[in-house]
Amino acid sequence: MTTELFLQEKINELLEIHQLDALKKDQAFVDRLWNHLPKIHRLFGEIYASHHQAEPQFIELISSLIKAYQSRESSLKKRDAEKAKQDGWFLSNQLAGMSLYVDRFAGNLKKMPEKLTHLEELGVNFLHLMPIFQSPEGESDGGYAVSDFRTVDSRFGSLEDLIALRKKMHSKGMNLMLDIVLNHTSHHHEWAQKAKQGDPYYRDFFYTYPDRWMPDEFDRSMPEIFPEAAPGNFTWSEEMGRWVMTVFHRYQWDLNYTNPVVFKEMMDTVLFYGNLGVDLLRIDAPAFIWKQPGTSCQNLPEAHTLLRLIKQCVLVATPGMAILGEAIVAPKEIMKYFGTGEFIAQECDFAYNATQMALQWDMLASGETKVMLAAQHEILQKPYGTSWITYTRCHDDIGLGYDDYMIAHAGKEPYQHRKFLKEYYSYSGDQWMSPARGALFSSNPKTGDARISGTLASLCGLEKALIEGNGPAIDQSIQKILMMQAHSIFLGGLPMLFYGDEVGYTNDYSFQNDPGKYYDNRWMHRPIIDWEKVNRKKVDGTVENQLFEGTKKLLSIRKSQDVFADLSNITWMSPHNIHVAGFVRRKGNDRVYCLFNFSDRAAYLTWYAFKEQGEGATALWDLWGEKIHTIGADNEYLILPPYGFCIMTPQG
Ligand code: GLC
Repeated sequence: MTTELFLQEKINELLEIHQLDALKKDQAFVDRLWNHLPKIHRLFGEIYASHHQAEPQFIELISSLIKAYQSRESSLKKRDAEKAKQDGWFLSNQLAGMSLYVDRFAGNLKKMPEKLTHLEELGVNFLHLMPIFQSPEGESDGGYAVSDFRTVDSRFGSLEDLIALRKKMHSKGMNLMLDIVLNHTSHHHEWAQKAKQGDPYYRDFFYTYPDRWMPDEFDRSMPEIFPEAAPGNFTWSEEMGRWVMTVFHRYQWDLNYTNPVVFKEMMDTVLFYGNLGVDLLRIDAPAFIWKQPGTSCQNLPEAHTLLRLIKQCVLVATPGMAILGEAIVAPKEIMKYFGTGEFIAQECDFAYNATQMALQWDMLASGETKVMLAAQHEILQKPYGTSWITYTRCHDDIGLGYDDYMIAHAGKEPYQHRKFLKEYYSYSGDQWMSPARGALFSSNPKTGDARISGTLASLCGLEKALIEGNGPAIDQSIQKILMMQAHSIFLGGLPMLFYGDEVGYTNDYSFQNDPGKYYDNRWMHRPIIDWEKVNRKKVDGTVENQLFEGTKKLLSIRKSQDVFADLSNITWMSPHNIHVAGFVRRKGNDRVYCLFNFSDRAAYLTWYAFKEQGEGATALWDLWGEKIHTIGADNEYLILPPYGFCIMTPQG
């Protein structure tokens, strides 16, 4: 690799070729470039220094940054500058998100603008559009098998439609989140097609092998992601006459990041998305981007180096775009995606709080908070200045990925406890006392692992209650849904609702008859929106009305209190009652107590729990229940009804 001096000369040359005005118009960019260059150079070198293409590819990379900056719309540059002025724009309690499939929600991109009013009414101003780039129908993995990273699939519309929507959203103060599927491409992608035709240049974009020797080596230590639908980690390509690494489905070919050309191409794609006006880029499956035989091929140090490199490049060229790493891995490993050591808070700005999400479901089934509390010492390690995506449901399954020792710490036997949770949420048709209606996803008979599919409403008992026409059970499931949402909305981070949950969609079993979907029961919780159902939100007392109004109120409470900005300001209260999860959010002298009763009985919480937190006020105002509670003596109690919750600020 180049020496520092030679590098400086090279960069100066590039600045000249691209006619950058370092003293005036382009000063901010040129400053950013020089500031971040040493880190970019070092990180790039850590991965590629010994590659014969290292030097030209590095120069190519810097040229890409310059070109991306030069083609960035001036309105986006202005937006970058405004975001830079706010300290951590994405930590704000004013933000509230929703993930949705454009086709299943609105039909297509052109129809999205007219649906924005529904979201605005709810209080949502951050939209995650599930993958919309070209992806072969039938072999699409919900859009996560991309055959062209730059063409919007005609099912959704065009790039122009996307840009028009983004402009509309920005004008309404809304933010846009899109995915980049970094780990793999569809086998229909041009690179894979050329590899199949025998082109060695493109074959080197993927991990391919003439025989089973290396695949067997890898398979020995690599877990299976979709053991039912796609066992193993390699697929035989008849056209290529070689084995190719396919960690997810057989039609998703893993990209080979040991090749700097692959990194450069994908970095260009990141910047392309930045210039579409994306505010938050969700990097899909980042844990998987580096492979090494003899390891699980997940969470390897090189994967972190690559993410840090991406973040540094984004800070130079499209600085207003924040990065979310979709790492759904063990709690300790998730934390590392925020960066470690010198790079703390300099890797991904966001990660999913997948641990807490799963623990919410653990609490709902067990009625106890012990396992959740045993996990907090790890979850609370999140660095200041970074944030969580908090959620109850998303398009994926619920993995019970927290550690065994957390379960053991709560006095439970890990294997039996997980078995109980899986049985509680998956309805097999047998007589079983659980009100939840879900299904096991990706059961692995070899390891006994399984995850859970199902909508928020079905898992909270609404489906069963509606079928049985059981009024009290319907009421209780609504209460559970709102409690689950409240818990994740106030926790700290950017709440990301999943479309349909705001009006109580239950499972849709029609995927079973679709040849492109039947093998993947995650489709049961990806509804096709019926706007007549949604409009029942306007009719007082309907399920849709209660859930919509409840969710809306929760979001508006979040926006009304600055303590809910993610200032890493959460403290868990002592577990005086094991059924009650309680935390305090503080900012200066302001504080809000958030308490949730996960049991089906009324829960009593001693008033001492508040005094122990230093509370000197005489009363607490419940923003949710809209009533005042006088703080009593230590042997008196706050009483929370079954699945009840309160969000309380001190008074007097
Ligand atoms: C992510 C997505 C999931 C997809 C997988 C493979 O985990 O959320 O839906 O199947 O990546 O791209």
